[in-house]
Amino acid sequence: MNSPLPSPYTPGESPTFLVGRREQVEAAEADLALLAHYGRFLGRVRVDIGSRGVGKTSLLKAIREAALEAGAVTAWVTARADESLVASLVAALTVGLDGIGVDLSERTPLSRRLRRLSLELGVGPAKAGVELDVSGPAAPGSSAASAAFGAFVSAASTAARDAGSAGLCLLVDEIQAAHRTDLRTLAYAWQELQSAPGAPAAVIFAAGLPNAPDVLTAAVTFSERFAFRTLERLGEADATEALEAPAHVHRVTWSPELLARVLAQSQGYPYFLQLYGDALWRAAGPDEGDTLGPHLFDAARSRVESDLDTMFRSRWAKASPGERRLLAAMAGLSGDPEQPVRRGEVAEAMRVGTNDLSVPRRALLDKGLIEVAARGTLRFTVPGFAGFVRAETGA
Ligand SMILES: Nc1ncnc2c1ncn2[C@@H]1O[C@H](COP(=O)(O)OP(=O)(O)O)[C@@H](O)[C@H]1O
Ligand SMILES: [Mg+2]
Repeated sequence: MNSPLPSPYTPGESPTFLVGRREQVEAAEADLALLAHYGRFLGRVRVDIGSRGVGKTSLLKAIREAALEAGAVTAWVTARADESLVASLVAALTVGLDGIGVDLSERTPLSRRLRRLSLELGVGPAKAGVELDVSGPAAPGSSAASAAFGAFVSAASTAARDAGSAGLCLLVDEIQAAHRTDLRTLAYAWQELQSAPGAPAAVIFAAGLPNAPDVLTAAVTFSERFAFRTLERLGEADATEALEAPAHVHRVTWSPELLARVLAQSQGYPYFLQLYGDALWRAAGPDEGDTLGPHLFDAARSRVESDLDTMFRSRWAKASPGERRLLAAMAGLSGDPEQPVRRGEVAEAMRVGTNDLSVPRRALLDKGLIEVAARGTLRFTVPGFAGFVRAETGA
């Protein structure tokens, strides 16, 4: 007997086929080409923003692949509230340099300088035999910290280029979670490097939730250094490819009817496409050459819904009574499959004026439960939440 074909879908992991992101990847490749060919410093930091599950981490990973292909040293950090972003970047760069044979414990002047700067930036503990010639760590967010970070990036870039690398590519995921002080250090360092003679070969790519622009604007006065781009859900052709391409690897096809139902249900939301693809594959257990038919839809749908139940429940628990009323009104209007709803309609359903919606609406946007869609309409960030809310409220 043949063992079943493994599911080619990737809920919660980077996809095998990253569809619909050519523009973003090509823009990154253009920056990386400047880095590699001319040793350029890229002063603008591109930040792709979007709700959870839209594909930010997957895109950033593709950019990291492109950076490695271009011959750069990469440093990947997922920002967190309980860690210093700057210290993590320095640590990740140190590992990256080590990977191309630049050993910071060597007795060269450059290694010594990198060591001293990393201590100054609070990255330690120092290895045995490392001299501690610093007056103490620079306060996060201070001009001493941004100067030290800038100097570290410069020295690291020189070391990397000397070792034959293209330069440095820093990747920051979940940038909205970083401390303000670290964002200041990073932004000021980038600002100062831009105007310094002999700027290092370095580039930063970042990704974050929709509130990342607010967080960055609050941290630094000159947020024009950051170029924010919204990462949209996938259009129909791309969503179709996300479902079909992984199956085609095993010569498995989708029936048009099943495809249409899953496309309607998942609304181009990448995480859903992977969840449905995976659930359908497991329900079908297909052999090479099989077709996935519409009879599988209901089984897949209940599997997907039970997978999401925990997430929906915790989101619902975090909503206040006023916010729940708004969610219930939206759920009642959005239908199945869900459609975006107009603010005026929501207010009408709740029998309040549109101004009365602004407080709970803002709170729900900040919590990432709803988002603004085309033409100022509102929709749930995760498809399927409307059905959950309707079941929960008995609507
Ligand atoms: N462009 C894409 N094509 C196909 N699947 C994708 C794409 N982007 C993301 N996914 C899938 O969507 C899910 C969420 O992706 P992820 O990058 O973790 O999102 P985010 O970081 O925005 O929360 C994963 O299961 C991933 O495989
Ligand atoms: Mg992510």
